[in-house]
Amino acid sequence: MNASLTPRPVRRARIASLATYVPPKVLSNADLEKMVDTSDEWIRQRTGIRERHIVDPGVATSDLAAAASREAIARAGLTPSDIDFIVVGTTTPDMLFPSTACLLQAKLGADHAWGYDLLAACSGFTYALTTASQMVASGASRYALVVGADVMSSIIDYTDRTTCVLFGDGAGAVIVEASDGEAGMIDFLNYVDGHGGDALCMPAGGSLRPASKETIEGRLHYVKQDGQSVFRFAVRNTEDACRRLLERNGIDASHIDLFVSHQANQRIIRSAAEKLGIPDEKVVINIERFGNTTAGTIPLALNDAVDEGRLKAGDLLLVASVGAGFTVSAILMRWGLKA
Ligand code: UT7
Repeated sequence: MNASLTPRPVRRARIASLATYVPPKVLSNADLEKMVDTSDEWIRQRTGIRERHIVDPGVATSDLAAAASREAIARAGLTPSDIDFIVVGTTTPDMLFPSTACLLQAKLGADHAWGYDLLAACSGFTYALTTASQMVASGASRYALVVGADVMSSIIDYTDRTTCVLFGDGAGAVIVEASDGEAGMIDFLNYVDGHGGDALCMPAGGSLRPASKETIEGRLHYVKQDGQSVFRFAVRNTEDACRRLLERNGIDASHIDLFVSHQANQRIIRSAAEKLGIPDEKVVINIERFGNTTAGTIPLALNDAVDEGRLKAGDLLLVASVGAGFTVSAILMRWGLKA
């Protein structure tokens, strides 16, 4: 039989290393009180956010992505030349094209990699991770670099109090490789409900409404959100996706060691966890320091959990996200970074 026709065995993919980056500048609730009609009390009570990091002018998504990626590659004991595949989950690419993955490939000197951007809003990291894992599991990729990175401050209207208090900038990167043991992806459940498109979007700047005097005067190049309908969808679908994933794997929620959800609002996370029967001590919430960094939240939360000793090799991890689109994702994995 021709060797090239031999099917590749399906392997389990695991996260080999993890690193994150946030820009140094902090925008606190007190700072926002001076910019719009809001209060620290309202922001903390309704969202859990205390502060968020934002970039200085001229710093782009690929810069944040490169900082996190360099560290992730080093922590995996690799060099940029070892990377053969790059997926960047982002809603705020440096520019419409070329992709941020291409810009990142050049910045890293990842001279053996191909790659692309994946737009799934707040599910950007989870969609990218599940996609790259399939490439690794099939044998098509040996070392995949998965990035979730967003400079939300580039598309936020800092005169709109309903959105400007929510978002921050940040990035996370992981190396995905084949697992030689129990660690790695067990299963994932991703889906889309495209009817929710209007509830959270940036109306202009694409082919439907290219930039014009009218779109700029109408402030249409900024995030617009119907917060309450997104909130309701997020709570219902975080729970639904996780419940269905656990059920089809015959796993009871009590066996989950840690629940890491997208950080959009601590009330969404707590409510979904409560409905799933996952107690507070197994729930990661770090939104108070970073706000909603869109594709950055999950790696930022994983990183904190590792640093705090809450996520250890062998732990059963449930990850979930809901984002604009709507996009929904739930992932079940056995944690196990390279020693
Ligand atoms: O990651 C992508 C997915 N995004 C999300 O998951 C976000 C989901 N939605 C949410 O997290 C919440 O809906 C928000 C945090 C955006 C808003 O919280 P809420 O409890 O749903 O508040 P609301 O929109 O019902 O507004 C309540 C009141 C309103 O005033 P009135 O009409 O009751 O007088 C708002 O105008 O709060 C007012 N308000 C504010 N007040 C002070 C809205 N934003 C602010 C603000 N400061 N920043």
